[in-house]
Amino acid sequence: DFVSDFRSGYVEIGEDNFCLPIYYEYYQEAIKTFKVRNDDVFLCGHPKTGTTWVQEMIWLIANNFDYDTAAKKIIYERSPQIEFPALFDITKLCKDLPYMQGLRYYHILEGIKSPRVIKSHLHWSLLPEEIRNGSKQPKIIVILRTPEDTCVSLYYYSQSAEAYKGSFQDFCKLFLAGRVCFGPFWKQVLSYWNERHRSNILFITYKDMKNDLPAVIKTVAIFLEKPITEDQLTKLTEHLSFESMKKNPAVNYEVGLEYAKCDGAATVRNDFLRSGKVGGYKSEMSPEMIEKFKAWTKENTEGTDLVLH
Ligand code: A3P
Repeated sequence: DFVSDFRSGYVEIGEDNFCLPIYYEYYQEAIKTFKVRNDDVFLCGHPKTGTTWVQEMIWLIANNFDYDTAAKKIIYERSPQIEFPALFDITKLCKDLPYMQGLRYYHILEGIKSPRVIKSHLHWSLLPEEIRNGSKQPKIIVILRTPEDTCVSLYYYSQSAEAYKGSFQDFCKLFLAGRVCFGPFWKQVLSYWNERHRSNILFITYKDMKNDLPAVIKTVAIFLEKPITEDQLTKLTEHLSFESMKKNPAVNYEVGLEYAKCDGAATVRNDFLRSGKVGGYKSEMSPEMIEKFKAWTKENTEGTDLVLH
């Protein structure tokens, strides 16, 4: 019965049965008709693929390495998430967060100075129309991570942020069945991969960031047409290290746990920057589950040239 327990309050949208909180329906029109700017940067990716890591990188590159503001303002105030109001029951939210009052959020986004760095976990088909029809050409960066590591990360996060009370095994089943928020995983990922011919999209991977962060930073800087010096690169690489980000309250979502408490989270702990590894799933998943993921990936990526392992 874990499915009905965890999924109460979710809706499935569109032909990929994209799973979203019921509140999404209040905001879908505002998101669809959102006025995009050519100098916006959109950062898209499935939850727990390292989106906050990339968000901090992009924000700093786009904002001339303004570390002062980056330290003072929490990441989601500097860089909004377009579906943010849809994630929560705002009537339950803590009252000291007035900027999140539903539709007002979209008016506030309209007023933010360029360059805006906007994050989204949504399926490509649910992004603002002006992006999809090409009438606006913001830069779009997509972060990819293996579904296994993403699933493990999401499991721990869901205990804290989404009141998930079931077992890890059951969570994996939900993930494979596309029944966690922003799933099905491959439908979400492939919805972007299918747009890779567009000149304004760049794909980066969690694995590459772990293996050679400076190289990814350089690629992103070139894509954003923002030159970066060697000194700036060294400083940003250090700033974006796991240890440094874990200590940084502006990016580790300590404050976010307050919302989780309001929403009746099962476990509330500060491990947004939890383990930060590639392949960590190998010590979490049973060999049988790993085989299930493999077969499921094969089935879902057959005929595409997308390989994440
Ligand atoms: P783990 O739970 O595997 O540790 P998102 O921001 O999309 O929710 O992704 C969160 C994941 O990115 C977490 O993965 C988190 O630890 C990882 N992450 C965030 N910052 C990181 C960094 N600087 N280095 C490595 N991993 C990072």
